Amino acid sequence: MTPLGAQEQERELEELLVEHAERFALRFGRGAPARRFFSPGRVNLMGAHLDYNGGPVMPMALDRGTFVALRPRTDDRIELASTLERETLSTRLSDLPRAPAGRWFDYPLGVIVRLLGEQGQERSAIGADVLFGGNLPIGAGLSSSASICVGTAFAFRSLWGRAPDPMACIGAALWSEREWVGVQCGIMDPYAVALSRPGHVLWLECKDARYQHLPLDANELMVAIVDSGIRRELAKGDFNQRVAECREAFARLRPLAPEAQVLCDAPSSTVDLALERLGPLLTKRARHVTREVERTRAARAALLAGDHAELGRCISATHASLRDLYEVSVPELDCIAEAALGHPGVFGARLTGAGFGGCVVVLLQRKARAGLAEHLEGEFARRFGRTPPVFFFRSDAGPREFS
Ligand code: GLA
Repeated sequence: MTPLGAQEQERELEELLVEHAERFALRFGRGAPARRFFSPGRVNLMGAHLDYNGGPVMPMALDRGTFVALRPRTDDRIELASTLERETLSTRLSDLPRAPAGRWFDYPLGVIVRLLGEQGQERSAIGADVLFGGNLPIGAGLSSSASICVGTAFAFRSLWGRAPDPMACIGAALWSEREWVGVQCGIMDPYAVALSRPGHVLWLECKDARYQHLPLDANELMVAIVDSGIRRELAKGDFNQRVAECREAFARLRPLAPEAQVLCDAPSSTVDLALERLGPLLTKRARHVTREVERTRAARAALLAGDHAELGRCISATHASLRDLYEVSVPELDCIAEAALGHPGVFGARLTGAGFGGCVVVLLQRKARAGLAEHLEGEFARRFGRTPPVFFFRSDAGPREFS
């Protein structure tokens, strides 16, 4: 999380990518060395489920993510393989699948379909052998999907002689997730992956995509992530259902807040005036969203003022709201979030990502790191009979090629 040690961080990553290139050579044969790319994951500190409601979010890219090793071919075939999955895709660029297959490679394939469509290059584009891999827990709320999508866009734009412009990579990644895979996600994840800076969090206003980098005091603060081990696939409905509920809540609230262009524009007081219109379920969803906007702005002020205790309180209040109002938590995540607050030097903890499983993010004093993992493992094991992995992350500089 600190620009100090950045060289060491880069060296570690370089070594991992060298190993990944070795695996590429075992898979695809020796020959011209593969090009090596890295694309980070992300964690969101504040602004839970606000991006698709047009609100502010505060994510940061992580120093773990997707590895891409790519070697151009002389024909127009693409071969997609992964060190983390068994299935592979072998196809021609001039004869790409017309629909997703329900497999991991749908994400990079959607990006390739999009890039080709944009470029009108279907006939002339060269193919590639590609091996994906990485060190990010998959499907754990750390945006492994945006990481692989942005990484694929970056690598294939480079392959085809296009500048790996962040906005173009973000556009292709969003298209793949929304139009190809079918998750109605907001804009936060690819923005966080593509635009983050070391030692900073990203402040993104999702209504108009304005963003800023806010410094995170890396000498004082640290981010830990605890994986509950519970997984639920977003494309399978729960996430899209929350998106649909918010859309409906906004339609019903609109007459009371005519100025509002998105649900996040509606003041939280309008929800209290609309209990009948909304009914109990949509009241809960709209309460979470409108209060989360207030909390997220308060968290920004606290971060800028160096008030880490207040920032932590906002983070923990977000967890309670996700649990009680948005109903996307599970007992394992509640256990971790609660146990974290019992460790001295922890400022706040909340589930991160969409929920329904995945990880808890813990904001703590750097010097409080010692003993945190043991404390959380003990509490969790007592209730669930296993120990959750605990990671300490640094922030990251975004997608890049290692040469
Ligand atoms: C998932 C989505 C994001 C965002 C979060 C919830 O990670 O991909 O767009 O909606 O959930 O904040």
